[in-house]
Amino acid sequence: MDRNGKVLVTGAAGMVGRALVVRLRRDYSTVVGLTRDECDLEDRAAVRRVFTEMKPDYVFHVAAKVGGIKANMSDPVAFLQSNLLSQTHVIESSHAAGVKKFLFLGSSCIYPREIPQPMREDSFLKGPLEPTNEGYAIAKIAGIRLTQYYHRQFGMKVSIPLPCNIYGPGDSFDLEHCHVLSALVKRFVDARDSGAKEVTLWGTGSARREFIYLDDVVEGITFAMTKTDTPEILNLGSGTDFSIKELAQMVAELVGFNGGLAWDTTKPDGMPRKCLDVTKLKALGFETKTAMPDGIRRVIRDYEAKPMGERK
Ligand SMILES: NC(=O)c1ccc[n+]([C@@H]2O[C@H](COP(=O)([O-])OP(=O)(O)OC[C@H]3O[C@@H](n4cnc5c(N)ncnc54)[C@H](OP(=O)(O)O)[C@@H]3O)[C@@H](O)[C@H]2O)c1
Repeated sequence: MDRNGKVLVTGAAGMVGRALVVRLRRDYSTVVGLTRDECDLEDRAAVRRVFTEMKPDYVFHVAAKVGGIKANMSDPVAFLQSNLLSQTHVIESSHAAGVKKFLFLGSSCIYPREIPQPMREDSFLKGPLEPTNEGYAIAKIAGIRLTQYYHRQFGMKVSIPLPCNIYGPGDSFDLEHCHVLSALVKRFVDARDSGAKEVTLWGTGSARREFIYLDDVVEGITFAMTKTDTPEILNLGSGTDFSIKELAQMVAELVGFNGGLAWDTTKPDGMPRKCLDVTKLKALGFETKTAMPDGIRRVIRDYEAKPMGERK
């Protein structure tokens, strides 16, 4: 990437987009973070206008409608439709603007439910998806393919990293929408502060998940865009997974919650295990740096720093 090129990051008010803009501004002179207030990406004409006016050289498409199992299950239409529309508009406008390189941020959710773990890139499209977040996954799969087709048909240079679960400061703590780690931090800090005797969590606690800390994912995205030159998907993770039970115990201990833990087994676990094979990433020269307890401590501090009335 040319240091004087114009860089556009979509989803810049979100957890990843905000951190990515800060990271890129260290190396690039013109980095524009696009937020929903400035442009609703579902509005094709509005996206065209932004791209025509700005003429970006490099685009990081980070914006997406994202959420946990609950939100995905209750509103699959929005997860599929909103993401299909916004990513299509950004990809076609990037091509029309003649960008030098385009990055589509995928997700480990695109992998089929029943595949060998850890999940290798060649398992893509090899089986049925996990039903609880199928709409979101289908949208991401369509985004990956459209990005690859623009590469194949028009020669657009692209990069497609697939992060595992991301956690870090700046995530939402609204239980209706937030990710698993922020939800655990909120639940345990609130329980500690209210003197609750027990915390009940969804599922059996046996599902295994892999996490990547925000600073590491932002470094990994920058690495994928600047140091790799392939339209193939690239797993972006730590390569280490934990059961939700292990994770809950880790968060409870770091928070200082001494009560009990109960499991609502009438609620779904989602995929039994989701861990990325990061052999390809490591061979290219990238590894994550943040140990899980260190990252969790930073999320706890982020939540505790919020005034009581704004803890959501
Ligand atoms: N967080 C994870 O665990 C994880 C894991 C793998 C991949 N990813 C990917 O990482 C990216 C960023 O995720 P995140 O965790 O940072 O989510 P986030 O905090 O919710 O940020 C996403 C941002 O995209 C914006 N956005 C969504 N639809 C839009 C639209 N139609 N027009 C304009 N802006 C729109 C959102 O604005 P509003 O808030 O106004 O809707 C939000 O600011 C996503 O592509 C996601 O799929 C995330």
